Amino acid sequence: MQKERPVHSSKTALNPSPSQPAAQASTIVILDFGSQYTQLIARRIREQNVFSIVLPCTVPLEQITAANPAGIILSGGPCSVYDADAPAADARVLALGKPILGICYGLQFITHHLGGKVSSAARREYGHAEVKIVAETPLLSGLAKHQPVWMSHGDEALELPPGFVLTAKTDNAVAGIADENRRIWAVQFHPEVHHTRQGTDLLRNFLFRICGVAADWTPEHFIQTTVERIRQQVGTGRAICALSGGVDSSVAAVLVHRAIGDRLTCVFVDNGVLRKNEFQKVQENLRGHLGLNLVAVDARERFLSRLAGVTDPEAKRKIIGREFIAVFDDEAQRIAEHSGTVDWLVQGTLYPDVIESSSVKGPSQTIKSHHNVGGLPETMQLKLIEPLRDLFKDEVRRMGRDLGMPEEILQRQPFPGPGLAVRILGEVTASRVALLQEADAIVVEEIKSAGLYTKIWQSFAVLLPVQSVGVMGDQRTYAATCAVRAVHSEDGMTADWTPLPYDVLQRISSRIVNEVRGINRVVYDITSKPPGTIEWE
Ligand code: XMP
Repeated sequence: MQKERPVHSSKTALNPSPSQPAAQASTIVILDFGSQYTQLIARRIREQNVFSIVLPCTVPLEQITAANPAGIILSGGPCSVYDADAPAADARVLALGKPILGICYGLQFITHHLGGKVSSAARREYGHAEVKIVAETPLLSGLAKHQPVWMSHGDEALELPPGFVLTAKTDNAVAGIADENRRIWAVQFHPEVHHTRQGTDLLRNFLFRICGVAADWTPEHFIQTTVERIRQQVGTGRAICALSGGVDSSVAAVLVHRAIGDRLTCVFVDNGVLRKNEFQKVQENLRGHLGLNLVAVDARERFLSRLAGVTDPEAKRKIIGREFIAVFDDEAQRIAEHSGTVDWLVQGTLYPDVIESSSVKGPSQTIKSHHNVGGLPETMQLKLIEPLRDLFKDEVRRMGRDLGMPEEILQRQPFPGPGLAVRILGEVTASRVALLQEADAIVVEEIKSAGLYTKIWQSFAVLLPVQSVGVMGDQRTYAATCAVRAVHSEDGMTADWTPLPYDVLQRISSRIVNEVRGINRVVYDITSKPPGTIEWE
């Protein structure tokens, strides 16, 4: 590693970086007042091929103007404008002359700061409601006069600020206001939630009628501008990328490869706990199909010898994390000796991680020390390239498709950094890895042939440290137990166990017991998260 370079920690990299398209014309800035729906607003806007970014509502005004927004949305939030801990947003944002759309708390913020009156509602409204549109305004143009909407508010606007008119109402409360001279519109309900039947039409009105943006944020546009930016950023320098074969790191690598060609070296490590044939398959895909300059490192021995005798889940995770960094560091030095100084490290950081890290979080307990190929130490003094830091997961897949990447990579279910080690309860040995690889391959094959693979968040096998008695033919067996796990999830934070069809379970069970010598019993995990976690360790 290049010790003389300044330290760029992953924390630094999560602040706005040159990879953030801060000054493009068609950006909508969403100021986050803490609503659970804020990310959804961003997604709805991006679905219209318009770029949007979420900023904490407390950012300095200069950061908002630096993004050169074509329009600003003030999100909902859990507070009352009168709460002592109401978010300290800069109300001068209302006087920038940019079109503004307030949603829920956003409406109350506007009312409160522009001279109206907000009070605690006599009756709180949460959930479905019907709104009546009572005035012509571009925001509500083309919408049916009576709208089923999704409402959530405790406070309500009692008196409108000077210059504002009422545009929509429910039986009990103000549901929409506007001051077209100041180009400020607000609604009490949530257009981003699909229960608001014409919510998308309302957002489209804001984007295209009011802000006048172009729907130009397409995969093609993203790829072109990102590749160009990386080219300028890296200049004649070199970059390395730790690849897992998963969606994020692969798409990030392909983008950087487009920009700087073989001055990007990708490192893919066999840590001895990959899935069946994964080491070969990932190489075929990345080197063969995508033409990446790939160094594949067989480090099975290194990892398995460190794991010998270890049964504690956290100890396994720590050992694998540390060893990965050591292997990657060795390879980076070798690449530098061979090909010249390496300055850049490519990471597949996604937008939810960026948003997460920029919001204030309370202390939370460590359930597991998660790590992946992105979790490299701050001592690796490399500058970061994070080409996906503005994208959600499904957008990454869209870009990957446009880059011509195979569906096999793009649709891959998440796989944890510590691999099968956290799915082998008890000691991780080469023979137990081989046993689980076989069982797991059957689970995945059967789920795929039932057409369920892309509909399920994760589906896999777990090897338990439990032996039980069975009978095969006329023979007594005494062998290991394997658990099958399949879960539905949006983001891995919570999950529901999947009710797999009985015939699929039946085929999985009978194939594992018949084909995998060493497993004679299969059980199905019917635990959701919480209280379970997705991985067993
Ligand atoms: P848990 O087991 O915490 O897993 O419910 C939630 C999601 O995270 C994945 N996972 C990991 N991913 N490095 C990763 O990159 C890790 O160390 C790790 N541990 C768990 C897990 O597969 C699930 O999708």
